[in-house]
Amino acid sequence: IIKIANDKTYYGSLSDYSCSANVKGICGDAMEFFIKIEDNKIKDVKFCTTGCISSKACGNTATKLIYGKDIYDALKLSPRAILDELENLPSEHHHCAILSCITVYKAVGEYFC
Ligand code: FES
Repeated sequence: IIKIANDKTYYGSLSDYSCSANVKGICGDAMEFFIKIEDNKIKDVKFCTTGCISSKACGNTATKLIYGKDIYDALKLSPRAILDELENLPSEHHHCAILSCITVYKAVGEYFC
């Protein structure tokens, strides 16, 4: 059983985002992040994925970990931090945490362009 340690869901999309990214993972599933940034702070963030329940858990945890943070603090997000939150995530789905991080990084990279 995968523990989804979040009491809020961030699943969905934003229409007024500052940056976004869509990344296809090694499993073939895609993840998309929408991030709204104001005064260098992450004011809102949503994600969606074509992937499994593990990718939803990882995406949701990634959003929880960066929500409201300074953009540079948000870049401290790591697959390890997501896996620590989702302690029961099976190892064959650890790549879902990596996909979540890559997608966040790409979105923030777009913001800086
Ligand atoms: Fe494809 Fe989880 S993202 S298996």
